[in-house]
Order: sequence, then C-alpha cells, then structure tokens
Amino acid sequence: MTSSAPTLAAQQDRVLIFDTTLRDGEQSPGATMTHAEKLDIAALLDEMGVDIIEAGFPIASDGDFQAVSEIAKNAQNAVICGLARANFADIDRCWEAVRHAARPRIHTFIGTSPLHREITALDQDGMITKIHETVSHARNLCDNVQWSPMDATRTEHDYLCRVVETAIKAGATTINIPDTVGYTYPRESADLIAMLLERVPGADTIIFATHCHNDLGMATANALAAVEAGARQIECTINGLGERAGNTALEEVVMALRVRNDILPYRTGIDTTKIMGISRMVSAVSGFPVQYNKAVVGKNAFAHESGIHQDGMLKNKETFEIMRPEDVGLAATNLVMGKHSGRAALRAKLSELGYELGDNQLKDVFVRFKALADRKKEVYDDDLIALMAEANTADEDAFLQIRRLRVICGTDGPQEAELTMTVGGTEKFVDATGDGPVDATFNAVKMLFAHDAKLELYQVHAVTEGTDAQATVSVRLKLDGVVYSGQSSDTDTVVASAKAYVNALNRLILHRHRGNLSALMTSAG
Ligand code: KIV
Ligand code: ZN
Repeated sequence: MTSSAPTLAAQQDRVLIFDTTLRDGEQSPGATMTHAEKLDIAALLDEMGVDIIEAGFPIASDGDFQAVSEIAKNAQNAVICGLARANFADIDRCWEAVRHAARPRIHTFIGTSPLHREITALDQDGMITKIHETVSHARNLCDNVQWSPMDATRTEHDYLCRVVETAIKAGATTINIPDTVGYTYPRESADLIAMLLERVPGADTIIFATHCHNDLGMATANALAAVEAGARQIECTINGLGERAGNTALEEVVMALRVRNDILPYRTGIDTTKIMGISRMVSAVSGFPVQYNKAVVGKNAFAHESGIHQDGMLKNKETFEIMRPEDVGLAATNLVMGKHSGRAALRAKLSELGYELGDNQLKDVFVRFKALADRKKEVYDDDLIALMAEANTADEDAFLQIRRLRVICGTDGPQEAELTMTVGGTEKFVDATGDGPVDATFNAVKMLFAHDAKLELYQVHAVTEGTDAQATVSVRLKLDGVVYSGQSSDTDTVVASAKAYVNALNRLILHRHRGNLSALMTSAG
C-alpha cells in the first residue's frame, strides 16, 4: 500500500533508540543477570546515548522491582521504562519502580491477535474496554505511557486500528507495534506502520515504535523498513539478545542508519564508539557468546584473512570495509602486553578496547592482569577481553566461592579432584573422583552443594593460540524448566570449568532464593 502525506512525528529525522536488553533480553533462557550486572549495563546504556531503557518487569519478582527502582534513581539522561501487563496491579507496581526516574515511562501491553484474544477470553469489545481502562490508569500515574498490542503483525488490520485508536484516546504517548513472533517481512512491516498512520485518528500526535523478533532473521530489516514508513522509535537489544532467536540488534540498526545515511536519512543519539564495550559486557554477564561472524560486533566482523582482501586493505581500507573499526570502539592496534606492562599502559589498552575504568576497578583488574601475565608470556587483546568478562562477573558476595582446586590425573584409574569451597560463608573441603578431571571437579562441587540441576551444555574454546592460551568455558544448567548460564576463563581449563559451573550455580541460587538468601546461608552453615 502507499503511504499518505507524512505526519508530524514521521517528518522528523531523529529515531529514538529503546533498549530492552534488561527486559526482553533477560527473558531469553539462561540470560538471567545479577542486580549489580543490571546496574552496570544500564549505566553504560545511559552513557552511550540510549533514549529509553526498558529496565525490567517490576511485578515479575522483588529482584526485578529493585533493579528497575535503582536504575531509575541512577539514570542521568535516559527515560527509564518498566513493563506491565494490562491490569492495575502490574501498572501500579511498575509506577512504584520507575517513578524515581527523572524521566519515567510505563509500558503496558496486551495480546490483540485472535490467538491472544482467545487465551485472555476477551471478545473484541471486551478488550477495547480493558485497553481503555488500563491505559487511562497508567496515564493518570505517569505522563509518559507506551502501549503495545502484542502480536500486532498477526492482528486483523481493522481491529488493530481500533485498539491503537483506543490507546491513543486513553492517553498513550508511544504506540509500539510488536512483531512478537518474528513473522513479518520488510515490505509488510513498512505497510503496517503506513496503514496505521493513514487510518488511525490521532496517529500524528504520538510516536510509533517498532519491536521486531528475529525468528526468520529479518528483525533488523523489518525495523528499518518500519522507520522508512514513519516509525520513530526502534526497540532493540545489545547483541540481539532476546526471546527465542532474539530481538533487533541495537548495533545493527544504529550502524545501518549511520553507514547508509544516504538512503536512510535518520539520526540516532548513540555514541557508536561504545558499542564494542557494551557488547562484550552483555556477552559476559549473559553467558551468551557473540557469534564470530555476527554483524558489527563479531570477532571476525573486521578481520581480513584472504590474500586478496589483505592486499586491498593495505592499499585502501575502503576496498573491504564499509565502517571503520574505531567507529564501533574497536582498537586499531593489537599491541601485546606482558608482565612488565604498567598500570597506565593497561588503562590505555583497555580504553582502546572500549573499557573505561575508574581507579578502584583498575586496581582490581591490574591484580588480575599481573596474575595472568605471570602465567602467560604474551597477553593479547582477546586475553584482556576475557579478563574483563571475568572481572565483570566476579562477585565477592557470591554464595559459592572456589578457594582451592587440585586435580590429580593419570592414565590409569579415575581422576581425582580436591576442592575447597565456601558455601554461604562456610569453608568446606571434599575429595571426589570422576571420569576425567572436569567430571571429578563437577562431582566435587555437587558433593559440597547438592542440587538437582541438569547440565545442559558444557563448551570450551581457546581465547588465543598456543599451549598457554586461556580457555573460556560456558556452562548451562537447567532446573524446573529454567536455564542458568555461567562463563569463566583461565589458562587452566579445569579451573575455568569449575568457575563457570559455580557461576551458573550462583545464578540459580540467586534466582530461586531471591530475598531469602539468609535462610539458605543458615542451612548451609
Ligand atoms: O515481543 C513482544 O510482543 C513484547 C511485548 C511485551 C512488547 O516483548
Ligand atoms: Zn519482544
């Protein structure tokens, strides 16, 4: 279909970036983040110029509520948003959490497609009434209200127009159009926004947002097509984290708008040099490695291996590079560090890699760096990235902490692991055997902290080359349908495995005993 004359909002060239890493991203199985990790990510999102941060789902748990409240208190520039279903209790709890922000937003939603109406047992008119009541209620609390018809791309067009009109009349200031199941196609995504702008009374008074999932790998294309048709807010996550195949990746839409500004003449407020830093942080805390060939932030995104490409790059970088590595915060050099490198050199190197450290954090990271440099002659960029991931996930107050591990291996007989670990503050020791050093170590952990979680994934990869290379280990555990991930790096693969396993267990403990850790501490002691 063809679009009508552009509306007020659609005429503007500024596209708002709404990041939902801490809400939709955290919903992806295994990506549970700790309170401190959420605060760190939010601070970086705020610093890099994200316009709206969806910080969580306040009614989901006390942990979510606390995180949203604290992020709201700390935010310097960004609007802080919380999610709420279409009921007063959810909306009130959401408001309680976001109201601390200088610029709060309530985001409320309901599934509007035939399938969702059937589940909620509401007919079309019943749902209209509910939307009017809940959006009005939210608007009475907060003057910045976003409303989403979940599964909008599978909702009948006439009905979608009715629900959007109802939400606008009830006071919504942003209308988000979610492609909840990643079903739409770029031309259809654009036509849907154009249709709403043309048919819905009052559509020119609000901002339309696009929220795309990546089930068919079209989330970025669908989001950009929606912008071309008049949407002025893109909902996205770092590294495309999110339910199932994830959401639109922030780094992809932001860089596409920048690199192809000739055909997409829109701007964002993002400082793109912060992209690599936040990508690595999100990967470390979520335990989801970034795929090597991932657009913009993958390890190979700026690597040139073939002779023809290398030759072209040496003559003129533009032959094979459409964006400069430094534009996304990637260091231009690969200066090797070693045990004689000082604190200032480390700070400069980390800054090149996209990590800006305060004095206290630098002190801690420098100790880790020295320990690594003692074991490894040459410390490469990737080693430092792994070390930063390690520092980001280290938690002094974690329930389980490994103190000492000694593994005895031989060609005959079972392997043996001697493990000393604090469990809720009490130091415990055990000697366990197993079918290989990692199995023996995991058995030892299980003997000191009995649990029923099943090991779903155990994966090792070398950070750099050579026999002294660090190994990064990822572990995924599943208990009662919930997945918990852990990641760790060390020059010793067994130590990295033990730490990754304990890391996943600490997340499980935190998730299941939120607010009741002291009881667990007592029973453990
Ligand atoms: O995908 C979706 O529909 C959502 C809504 C809650 C906006 O995440
Ligand atoms: Zn979603």
